[in-house]
Amino acid sequence: MKDKSIVPTQREKVMREDDFLVSRTDLKGRLTYGNQIFIEYSGYSEQELLGQQHNIVRHPDMPRGIFKFLWDTLHTQKECFAYVKNMSRDGSFYWVFANVTPSLDAQGKVEGYFSVRRKPKSQAIATVTEIYTNMLDAERRAGPRDACDASLAILAGLLTQKGVSYESFILSV
Ligand SMILES: Cc1cc2nc3c(=O)[nH]c(=O)nc-3n(C[C@H](O)[C@H](O)[C@H](O)COP(=O)(O)O)c2cc1C
Repeated sequence: MKDKSIVPTQREKVMREDDFLVSRTDLKGRLTYGNQIFIEYSGYSEQELLGQQHNIVRHPDMPRGIFKFLWDTLHTQKECFAYVKNMSRDGSFYWVFANVTPSLDAQGKVEGYFSVRRKPKSQAIATVTEIYTNMLDAERRAGPRDACDASLAILAGLLTQKGVSYESFILSV
């Protein structure tokens, strides 16, 4: 289970250029696989990770709206790209650029989900940090019940202003 006593620190673990962090989950978001680098960044052992909800690496600076968007996209059997700030067991953080996809079985039925992450560019982190900070502020103002709607409205407003889809925006930052 996620340990709520972990205190986030300002210590950043910067991904190496050729790192790929890979994880798989079942349909409910429980970890079924993590590659060695994913395990290393998480700070947990493989045994501690497997079977746990993927939110075990969730950082409190991440807006809830982004995860709602991620899951809503996956539930339409589409892939989703996202910048994610994750938290290691020791409270340090690491930014990733993730491509999350549904995994299909031989009959074409979704059997779980798969995420591959690479190092994001620092300019992209700066852009996304500003957006996520605004989304998080909106979530705090709205309160838990309306948090996701409030922060996704901010994201939608930004995309409308730029006249682009989420995917073309996120692939261009
Ligand atoms: C394949 C896959 C990979 C995921 N990777 C992450 C991740 O790296 N970090 C993260 O915080 N959530 C990730 N999630 C989303 C989590 O399942 C969860 O929605 C999120 O951590 C928010 O959890 P909470 O609503 O319990 O706070 C992933 C989900 C899937 C299906």
